[in-house]
Amino acid sequence: MIQAFPPSSPADQAIRGALLDFVDDPFYVPQDQAVRYIPDGLLVIREGHVAAVGAYADLSPTLGDMPVADYTGQLITPGFIDTHIHYPQTGMMAAYGEQLLEWLERYTFPTERQFKDPTHARQVADFFLAELLKNGTTTALVFAAVFPESVDAFFEAAAARNLRMISGKVMMDRNAPDYLCDTAQSSYEQSRALIQKWHGQGRLLYAVTPRFAATSSEAQLKAAARLLDEFPDLYLHTHLSENVNEVAWIQDLFPQYQGYLDVYDQTGLVRQRSVFAHGVQLSDQEFQRLSQAKAALSFCPTSNLFLGSGLFRIEQAKNKAHPVKVGLGTDVGAGTSFSLLQTANEAYKVAQLRGQKLSAFKALFLATLGGAKALCLEDKIGNFDPGKEADFIVLNPQATPLLALRNPTGLAHRLEGVAEQLFSLLIMGDDRAVQATYIMGELAYSSPST
Ligand code: GUN
Ligand code: ZN
Repeated sequence: MIQAFPPSSPADQAIRGALLDFVDDPFYVPQDQAVRYIPDGLLVIREGHVAAVGAYADLSPTLGDMPVADYTGQLITPGFIDTHIHYPQTGMMAAYGEQLLEWLERYTFPTERQFKDPTHARQVADFFLAELLKNGTTTALVFAAVFPESVDAFFEAAAARNLRMISGKVMMDRNAPDYLCDTAQSSYEQSRALIQKWHGQGRLLYAVTPRFAATSSEAQLKAAARLLDEFPDLYLHTHLSENVNEVAWIQDLFPQYQGYLDVYDQTGLVRQRSVFAHGVQLSDQEFQRLSQAKAALSFCPTSNLFLGSGLFRIEQAKNKAHPVKVGLGTDVGAGTSFSLLQTANEAYKVAQLRGQKLSAFKALFLATLGGAKALCLEDKIGNFDPGKEADFIVLNPQATPLLALRNPTGLAHRLEGVAEQLFSLLIMGDDRAVQATYIMGELAYSSPST
């Protein structure tokens, strides 16, 4: 039977509110060229994708009988993108008193051991994804654990919610307890099977995930590179130059290489779809090499502060002469919040401590279109361009009594005004400021207080 008009899906609707997204990078062009702000805007959603974006007055006559969800007075932005997080570490946030290497041994490895159990893994994955949606995060690049079961559990939970998620099995064959170690060969085979099962299924994508150079032999890093050669569009996701003692240890473990990034480079892991978490201790030359390779960095300020790792050089990463793609990462469980608002808050303070300014628009860019670019997903998510997947959130600038005191009037009509209101949301906001989260145009979370 031929149908002239496909029936409209339940997600076909329009969203009215103050629309705020990015059409360019505010680190490189003036903010009025980078920001798209429509104070009384309309986002038209068909079949889970953005069909049109514009002023309510212009678009409302085109709607016919399409329903309109009215969020007048609220700020509507693309869903947040978390470029580095560990789902198995959800239950171990706020582990006291250690820096990276001791923290891994004392807290992290024993916690991740539990993820061999598929039931436990699925329970934590469900809790984790609920927490992401509650915080307005719609896409994340996620470490699972070393056990293939932990990857299955995560992807099953993400598929059930139709989320665009990237994850992969941790590869680690040394310098960790036996119960967490695989081998170069077994990690290759298990990753390969998971790639064939999950990569490109619905909205799911696979990241080859060696934990970091200290827990992988050279043979294992090369096995990871072989997987990247064999399958198109895979990601490489790992940690890089987070902590001073870690960097010294890598030099001891790999004396034949010219530094931490060079270990990944010479083993074939520094590529366009490689995402490196932290990069706190990188040299200028290493930043330049990342730029040349078009690889990405995940800036994880709450984690870098919590573990005492150091202050990320955002201005060096975004240097116009050799730009590196950068997104924000919560890095839960070393990170102290699931909220990318709170992550932006700490990113601002890290910049302050280095004598730099991170404007509200720059911070929001990192959490949205910047994250999408870091994950090479800017053709699918990150802003409201027609054709993009309709993952977006509703932020309430008066969500708490204190925010209402700070933002007594409605949303500003001009960019300068909304910059200030957005800044207050980044600094004072958290999950309470997220009124609703939509996935592919469908309501996936709404705040209990509304
Ligand atoms: N480096 C290697 N593993 C980890 C981890 O689980 N968390 C952080 N923050 N750094 C790491
Ligand atoms: Zn991490």
